[in-house]
Amino acid sequence: MMRGRRLRTTPMLRELVRETRMSAEALVLPVFIKEGQDIKEEIPSLPGQYHCSPDRIGEEIERALQCGVSKFLLFGLPEHKDEVGCGAYDDDGVVQQGLRAIRRQFGDRVYLITDICMCEYTSHGHCGILSGQTVDNDQTLPYLARIAVSHARAGADMVAPSDMMDGRVEAIRRALDEAGFGHLPILSYAVKYASSFYGPFRDAAGSAPSFGDRKSYQMDCHNRREAIKEALADVKEGADLLMVKPALAYLDVIQAVKQHTHLPLAAYSVSGEYAMTKAAAAAGLIDEYGVMCESAVAVFRAGADILITYYARELAGAIQRGDIG
Ligand code: PBG
Repeated sequence: MMRGRRLRTTPMLRELVRETRMSAEALVLPVFIKEGQDIKEEIPSLPGQYHCSPDRIGEEIERALQCGVSKFLLFGLPEHKDEVGCGAYDDDGVVQQGLRAIRRQFGDRVYLITDICMCEYTSHGHCGILSGQTVDNDQTLPYLARIAVSHARAGADMVAPSDMMDGRVEAIRRALDEAGFGHLPILSYAVKYASSFYGPFRDAAGSAPSFGDRKSYQMDCHNRREAIKEALADVKEGADLLMVKPALAYLDVIQAVKQHTHLPLAAYSVSGEYAMTKAAAAAGLIDEYGVMCESAVAVFRAGADILITYYARELAGAIQRGDIG
C-alpha cells in the first residue's frame, strides 16, 4: 500500500520534505510616505500599517529591518494634487524626500523600490493624463518616464510602473538610460488586474478614481492568456522583473506567467487580501497567523519568486521560526 502518511509523522520529517522553500530575503514590504512633518498615523483600512512623513518613515523601516525585512516598495501621498500629477515628478516630492531620508539613515542596508504611477497625484485619481473622459496612453508615457528618472535621482534602487499604459516599460527604460541610470532595474506590474481587492489601498493612498473605473487600462479578471501576452510584451520592452497582482485570487496566472517567461517573478498580495484576513481574524472567525502563513506559501508554491505583502514582517518571523518555508 502507498502510505502517504509515512512522510508526515514528525515535524522534522515534514520540514525535510517540504516542496516549497521560502526566505525572508524574498519579501518586500509596501510603505506609505505622507507629505508633512512629524506624522505617524495608523491607516484605518490597513490595521498595523502607517502613514509616516519623511522625517518619521525611518521608524517603520527600522521595525522591518529588525524582523529581517530589508526591501521596501514606496508609495507617496502628496499634500497637493493636480490634473497632471506634477507632484509625482517633483524632485522635492514626497517619495523623493522619503528616499533621501531613508538612504541618509540606513545607507545600503535597505533596498528601495518605488511605485511609478500617477493616481495618488492626480486630482481625478486616474493613472494617467486625461483626454476627455479617458486616459490618453501616449500622452501619459513621458510623464511616467519623468517620474522614474526623478525617483532614480533621489536614490531609488528599482522602479515599478503600476499604471498599465502600453509601452511604458520601453519609455521608462529609454529615459533612465539617457539620464545615466542604465543599471537601474525595472519591475513591471506587467499583469495587473482591475480588481476589487485594491479598495483598502485606495483609501490608504487617497487614489480612488473620481469618476469611472480602471477597466480600460487594468486587465479583466476573466483572462489568463492575456496575462502571458502582457508579460511577454514587457519582456520585449526591457523589463527586468515581472509582477502579477493581486496574488491569492490569481495563482493560476502566477503559474502561467512563470511557465512562459524567464524573469524573476513577483506577486503582490494586495491590500484587500490583507484587510480581509485582518477583519476575519478581528471577528474571531479565523486564525490570522495560520491564514497568513498558508496564503503566502500558496503564492510561492504557484511559482512566485518574490512576495510583496503587508505581512512581510510577520512572515519573516514565521519563516525564521521554521513554521513555513
Ligand atoms: C497604483 C497602485 C494601486 C495599487 C498599487 N499601485 C492601486 C490601483 O491600481 O488602484 C494597489 C495595491 C494594494 O491594493 O495593496 N496604481
